[in-house]
Amino acid sequence: MIDFSSLTTDLERVLITEDALMARVRELGEQIAHDYEGKRPFVICILKGAVVFFSDLIRAMPCALSFDFIATSSYGSNAYTSGVVRILKDLDRPIEGEHVLLVEDIVDSGLTLSYLVNMLSARKPASIRIAALLDKPTRRKTPLIPDYTGFEIDDLFVVGYGLDYAQKYRNLPMIGVLSPMCYM
Ligand code: IMP
Ligand code: MG
Repeated sequence: MIDFSSLTTDLERVLITEDALMARVRELGEQIAHDYEGKRPFVICILKGAVVFFSDLIRAMPCALSFDFIATSSYGSNAYTSGVVRILKDLDRPIEGEHVLLVEDIVDSGLTLSYLVNMLSARKPASIRIAALLDKPTRRKTPLIPDYTGFEIDDLFVVGYGLDYAQKYRNLPMIGVLSPMCYM
């Protein structure tokens, strides 16, 4: 066991354990590979938050696939999205005719993904679906429902498994609720 106590002391509690994450990601991978049978999905990782989920998910998908990365940033506060999305790194090649699967860490207001889905739709992919590890449905500001969701969670600020607070905690192997003291 790797000792992450220097980071976990900042957590109020663990919300999703490493084992629970692995088990759910395996289920999702199998289900997604099954749903794309006969196709070759083009899997897009939304940097940086989704990178840990993405790397586990693709290794749980027993099918042919390609992947690429896109990096976005939102204007405004660092914890929550303003809805105005800036593309920091675009895809390397066109997606026309591709079956796109967008992989995101967490859907909160849904504004980031709505923006991306609109932007990518204009490039004429054959289809676009969304896989989100976490979903906070009560915070939605736009009617967006991920096609695949790992876990629905309450309106809590969580870190770990790719998710950060001020760029910290992304390497934690579990998802935890950050202690309010750490915001100060
Ligand atoms: P949305 O556009 O409001 O859906 O924002 C989603 C983005 O906000 C995610 O990709 C995260 O970068 C960030 N975010 C939302 N909730 C959390 C959280 O609880 N912890 C860490 N980042 C979060
Ligand atoms: Mg993000």
